[in-house]
Amino acid sequence: MTMADSILIDLDLHPDVQLTRFMQEFAERPVVAPNPDTGRADEPQRIQYAVVWKPEPGMLASLPNLEIIFSLGAGVDAILRDPALPDLPLVRFVDPNLTGHMCNWVVLQVLMHTRRQRGYDALQRKREWKEIHPQPASNELTVGIMGLGELGSACATALLALGFNVCGWSRTQKSVKDVVTYHGDGQLNAFLSKTDILVSLLPHTSATHGILNRDLFEKLSKDGPFGAPVVINGGRGGSQVEADIIACLDERVLHGVSLDVFETEPLPANSRLWTFNNAILTPHMAAVSDPATLASHVRTQIDRYERGEELQHLVDRSRGY
Ligand code: NAP
Ligand code: GLV
Repeated sequence: MTMADSILIDLDLHPDVQLTRFMQEFAERPVVAPNPDTGRADEPQRIQYAVVWKPEPGMLASLPNLEIIFSLGAGVDAILRDPALPDLPLVRFVDPNLTGHMCNWVVLQVLMHTRRQRGYDALQRKREWKEIHPQPASNELTVGIMGLGELGSACATALLALGFNVCGWSRTQKSVKDVVTYHGDGQLNAFLSKTDILVSLLPHTSATHGILNRDLFEKLSKDGPFGAPVVINGGRGGSQVEADIIACLDERVLHGVSLDVFETEPLPANSRLWTFNNAILTPHMAAVSDPATLASHVRTQIDRYERGEELQHLVDRSRGY
């Protein structure tokens, strides 16, 4: 008989709130954090479930009675990077609040560029009353979304409601109402050639590593009202080549960018990305997991598992997401 009865929770986001929220949700069993000095559980044999974000390599393998690994977020790239990751079910976080936050961030970024907000901010600082043109109508622009999963398809629907034309690209064929869909490497160029504003909501995998590079940017539509495309990345920084983004902003291959994720986080202070007026940067906050809904998601999945039902939102390790 296993003596495992505890949940181990990484304290990566909102440490106090998160631990308190999990303790409230799981009042019937111990909820513990890794020992801050060792980064490991003090009683590893008692850990039955682990909720992690960027676990130390080997930490999960040190838990002999672990049964399920939960990701603190939607993305699991930092967990899959552990070469000693135990072969156990890995459940990622899918949550309406998280999806809503990402939709709001994406819509905000699209409008920041299309309504020329950075230009108006600069005029305001100079107390100058002037219009900036062009101010294209939504239906003059096509937003192309890379990744039509939980987040990408919800963002597509939100942008359609604002009148934008929306197309999307995914690994396998997808159908989203009123979205023109493309899939696979063979249809990537066709998707790019239609896209004035590119939104990436791709996971970081070996197939998407560095995909947002100069070669791809040069294939985006130049026929839009700004004469050069906009790139918005809310997925993962490992999918972008920042040296190419900087060069393409310098050369006007890109009209502007919005980035929430970076090759190195925090973005180093000496990155030139900080210096562009038409580069809108946010510190990986587009859709931060809410401790309350995260705890109830973990509760739902543990209850399902203990009743002998299938787990939801399982990661397919061979795909990497
Ligand atoms: P998801 O439901 O798994 O969707 C992923 C989408 O990407 C799917 O449509 C998938 O295609 C597509 N895809 C994956 N690999 C591809 C490839 N090689 N070529 C073309 N398409 C590919 O994931 P999600 O919940 O929408 O989340 C997406 C990502 O957003 C996460 O992995 C995470 O990295 C990021 N994220 C960021 C934040 C933030 O705060 N910035 C917050 C949450 C999530 P198929 O549909 O064919 O499988
Ligand atoms: C955040 O980046 C997430 O993957 O949930």
